[in-house]
Amino acid sequence: MNDIKLRMDELIDIINKASLEYYVNDNPSISDQEYDDFYSELLKLEEKYPELKRLDSPTHRVGGEALSSFSKVTHEKPMLSFDDIFNEDEVVLFDERIRKTCSNPSYTLEPKMDGLSGSLIYKQGILQRAATRGDGVIGEDITTNVKTIKSVPLMLNKPIDIEVRGEIFMSKKSFENCNKKREKNGEKLFANPRNAAAGSVRQLDSKITAKRNLDFMAYFIPNPEDYGIKTQKESIEFLSELGFMTNSKLNGLARTPNEIITYIEDLSAKRQSLPYEIDGVVLKVNNLSDEEKLGTTQRVPRWGIAYKFPALEVLTTLRNIKFTVGRTGKITPNALFDPVHVAGSVVSKATLHNEDYCLEKDVRVGDVVSIRKAGDVIPEVVEVKKERRKGDELPFKMIEVCPMCNTLLIKKDAMHFCPNDNCDSRKIEGLIHFASRDTMNIDGLGERIVEDFYNLGFIKAIPDLYKLENHKEDLIELEGFGEKSINNLLDSIENSKKNSLEKILFALGIRHVGKKTAKILAKYYKNIGNIINASEEELSNINDIGAIIASSVKMYFSDLNNLKMIDELKKLGVNFDYISTIQDNKLDGNTYVLTGTLEKYKRDELTIMLENLGAKVTSSVTKKTTGVIVGDKPGSKYDKAIKLGIPIIKEEKIESLIR
Ligand code: IVH
Repeated sequence: MNDIKLRMDELIDIINKASLEYYVNDNPSISDQEYDDFYSELLKLEEKYPELKRLDSPTHRVGGEALSSFSKVTHEKPMLSFDDIFNEDEVVLFDERIRKTCSNPSYTLEPKMDGLSGSLIYKQGILQRAATRGDGVIGEDITTNVKTIKSVPLMLNKPIDIEVRGEIFMSKKSFENCNKKREKNGEKLFANPRNAAAGSVRQLDSKITAKRNLDFMAYFIPNPEDYGIKTQKESIEFLSELGFMTNSKLNGLARTPNEIITYIEDLSAKRQSLPYEIDGVVLKVNNLSDEEKLGTTQRVPRWGIAYKFPALEVLTTLRNIKFTVGRTGKITPNALFDPVHVAGSVVSKATLHNEDYCLEKDVRVGDVVSIRKAGDVIPEVVEVKKERRKGDELPFKMIEVCPMCNTLLIKKDAMHFCPNDNCDSRKIEGLIHFASRDTMNIDGLGERIVEDFYNLGFIKAIPDLYKLENHKEDLIELEGFGEKSINNLLDSIENSKKNSLEKILFALGIRHVGKKTAKILAKYYKNIGNIINASEEELSNINDIGAIIASSVKMYFSDLNNLKMIDELKKLGVNFDYISTIQDNKLDGNTYVLTGTLEKYKRDELTIMLENLGAKVTSSVTKKTTGVIVGDKPGSKYDKAIKLGIPIIKEEKIESLIR
């Protein structure tokens, strides 16, 4: 029996050390196979001799019996949180306030983890209890769940009694995986890693928590003096020694507001590339003697503060849902809400995509909604705060007729369409598309001007653009225009006549013919006549052109009105031939992906340069990618390239690639 106990102790030791190396130090020490073998040996012994199972056994990580509720626990010292500040002036004020009590203070600066705080209590180095913050005084016992978190040591490197506080969080990667699984199972997606972590920690069935891959970052010891610790920096070092994951490498130390602000700027620049979400910087006076002098108000500690980054996701009230008609007739519901600051700009509307999306989210006018910028650019409604409803919100109702021309809408899959080809909205949107940057690139002909010119009767259809010259005198007289701006506009319209075939093919707005397809067709057929004459079968035999595109192209060019318009455009001098821009085929067959911000090149320009040399530029990294061109703050494409062993091309190497 004694031998068995010794072997179990040995196995626990090996597995715990291996876990620490793997999950905390990011430096695996044994192979997965060896780990699994030790683990199953331990599991078997524990099954056979349950009386010998230790409290800190790593087999607790898989979760235990499901609970019926969480029991309440009282924190020995209240779990407070800091006041928030939002700008540099407030950093200066904070420092001034500290200096009134402390001479020559220094501050530790730490990433503000975006998860939920937790308290862990160890007795003689063994994890006894884990709790949520709750209201700060009373929290909930989440011990079984926390034991499943691999970066929480079940046994410390020292056999001491200690309380450790830190953040329970979900990494960006685990969040992605978690939502992918949920999508596959038809479950509601988590809006962000914080919600996912909170939802996972509050699972009564810890076996579910175990599958969610949570992490724990330790950042605070409520009784540091018990361990001879004199500064917050030493607290973090001590936590690392005990076997916790800490942010010791990212944390900083500052003495002046300027140093604090520089740290904030640096961390903010690193934010996207961190493996987890942070929402600001936590500032704490470093010397614990200063901390003691400053003390705590009724509500918050005076010795620290949380600087919050500008919000990426904010709450606002939905005031109206406005339906718009696209150039294909597609009806889009749009959320109009009280203007809010999100990720550096003010937004007041976001797409709600289609009826199904609205019904699934159950958006109602009057609802409090959270807004985020998808990919940091396009605003989207992430979540409806149903718990904040008052009862007078108006349920979503899809419209039945076109908001512009009153034609009865038709439904195709999840989408509604206005079938009227002469609908003013559709025509205006078609003209906007024709003039935009990726199509005919007519400078000075933005959305508002197209709309005004349409409503004033100057342009009703595409060919009218090329007859605008005839109205020059009237246009100059319009409010907000002058001779110079009209001349510039007419010049760019004239220039657009020279575009190569792929531009106008995309500009015509043929269904399913986007930028890429237009290019394939233009390269293959060289002029519009050949495309008009191509059979549907021939079209669908081209690489990358499927049956749906082929049928749509054929349909477009079978319509006499379209052929008449093309003829008219030709007479007005618009080019319909493919102008090869490939100057040299030196990159023929190569495929590149761009990621991050480049200093010297604009993405679009570099794409054209590479394409002109025969290369393809795509948006995702695969085994076939020749190289990934990497600028500042690269995204996940960079990680993928490293993983797949695809060559990385830094900005300074671009010159030699394209020269
Ligand atoms: S120290 C008295 N350090 O942000 C507060 N908190 O208001 C002691 N947080 O609710 C906490 N990262 O959940 C501390 N490095 C960090 C933190 C951090 C995130 C959270 C914590 C707290 C809030 C601060």
